[in-house]
Amino acid sequence: MRILFLLLLAFPAMAQTPEVERVVAATFADAPEAWKSRVTQDETQALCSLRRNEPTKAEAMAIEAREKATVKIPAEIAGSWKKGEDIAQNGRGNQFSDPAGTVAGGNCYACHQMAPAELSYGTLGPSLMHYGKLKDFAPAAAREAYGKVYNAQSVTACSTMPRFGHNGVLSEQQIKDVVAYLFDPASPVNAPVK
Ligand code: HEC
Repeated sequence: MRILFLLLLAFPAMAQTPEVERVVAATFADAPEAWKSRVTQDETQALCSLRRNEPTKAEAMAIEAREKATVKIPAEIAGSWKKGEDIAQNGRGNQFSDPAGTVAGGNCYACHQMAPAELSYGTLGPSLMHYGKLKDFAPAAAREAYGKVYNAQSVTACSTMPRFGHNGVLSEQQIKDVVAYLFDPASPVNAPVK
């Protein structure tokens, strides 16, 4: 027993990952068939779990290359900042309790400050206030932001930001709309602080 305890101390990630997987599998044992892929880790997630989100440099580069290969960035990112604002503020979707056909939101405010007038936001991610303005509203930067939202790990291995396009949570047009929310000069994100 004591030896097992010492082993757990020495290799916490190795010891706990299979246990976490067992608990997750048991928790979702009765989930609909379509959920199976959502509770099974892909190669990237499994490695990030094993490394506690701190991959080696070589592993991080391999993850980012693999994830980048899944991203198709449209040449033109045209969207509506108003629709993007609704998506950024909407945390519903992909829950047991959602009525059938519920369109998922991005829940960006759960982790990011965005428009200066918004009082309630999470701080897990960096502030995105004035994001477009700070990047001179550059179309190349908007395309980069599209890639980031489509698949956060294509830019930062083991990012805790969801891979919205990759996972099919947001559609191509919804991602264009949240990028417009970040990059449109008329968007509240780029409004001066009152
Ligand atoms: C669960 C938390 C979480 C959610 C939800 C989330 N993000 Fe993030 N986001 C992060 C974290 C953490 C980072 C910083 C680490 C990284 O770059 O991956 C980040 C980074 C970013 C960046 C890069 C910022 C930079 O440094 O240039 C952008 C842009 C971004 N998020 C946009 C969004 C948008 C738009 C949404 C909603 C569709 C969203 N995020 C939802 C956690 C989140």
